[in-house]
Amino acid sequence: MKPRVLLTHQLPGERVALLEQRCELLTWPGPGLLPAVQLAQLAAGCEGILCLLTDRIDRALVDALPQLAFVSSMSVGVDHVDVEALNARGIPLGHTPGVLVETTADTAFALLLAAARRVVEADAFVRAGKWTEDNRWSPEFFTGIDVGGATLGIVGLGAIGQAVARRAAGFGMRVLGWNRTPREVPGVTPVSLDTLLGESDFLSLHVALCEDTRDLLDAARIAQMKPGAVLVNTARGGIVNEAALAAALVEGRLGAAGIDVFEREPVAVDNPLLRAPNVVVAPHIGSATRLTRARMADIAVDNALAALDGRPIPHCANPQVYARGG
Ligand code: GLV
Ligand code: GLV
Repeated sequence: MKPRVLLTHQLPGERVALLEQRCELLTWPGPGLLPAVQLAQLAAGCEGILCLLTDRIDRALVDALPQLAFVSSMSVGVDHVDVEALNARGIPLGHTPGVLVETTADTAFALLLAAARRVVEADAFVRAGKWTEDNRWSPEFFTGIDVGGATLGIVGLGAIGQAVARRAAGFGMRVLGWNRTPREVPGVTPVSLDTLLGESDFLSLHVALCEDTRDLLDAARIAQMKPGAVLVNTARGGIVNEAALAAALVEGRLGAAGIDVFEREPVAVDNPLLRAPNVVVAPHIGSATRLTRARMADIAVDNALAALDGRPIPHCANPQVYARGG
């Protein structure tokens, strides 16, 4: 009998067809995302789950699935998965780093430029018919913040942070970087987090969300940021204290923000960040290009195929499960 695998969403890419041949694939047909209750029901008896970052793979679910042998997430971030619960059972977790690096760095830079130069606000202004003879080009009209020559602080010097640094070099920025375990990156001056907060005109977040990074930018650290600075977050909402960020923007201590990720997604319309001035928002679209999403899906499938064949998952988020000889 073929092993049963749950696929929580239809996938782009070419390789999902291989998975259909290799296992009995239960695919949630939609519309929309798979509700948690149905996830638990459908996963019963499954050897593997191929999921999205919108699916919560928590301890209760893992405990309820004695046959579970692997999880493959079509995402680089795995904060939606209780990795400890998987580790305790020696269950490997696949993810999709690499292919989304340049795409996500582009999103960070798009938000950085849009926030600095008020692109979204300007677009709305023109469409609303507010661009009139009385309200047009003048020395102060729609002035923003210069990107060229400014200092960019990158928090997290993994692949995405490094790709943002390469873009910043092209814009003539001075680039500072901080990483939990110090890392040498060409073109990036390594500094302490305190220095980075105090000196950066722009700050871009590129760390994974975990115990150590939850609320990393809390009220105290936001208060340390340079007056008028611009914060860009394409990583995870939970890294930033949203209420403190909104307050800093409302009080004019920070200049602007470009935010692709929120503590709770979809974001509630009464989230204070949506009412703060100079905030450009997006609905978690960091890796959203057709090509990158297809590549992510293909990697997620390859991870699942490896697990089904009893091979180590090529892109494994918890490789320690293989190290213990199990
Ligand atoms: C996107 O946020 C991802 O983790 O892939
Ligand atoms: C801008 O359009 C300028 O001519 O200064």
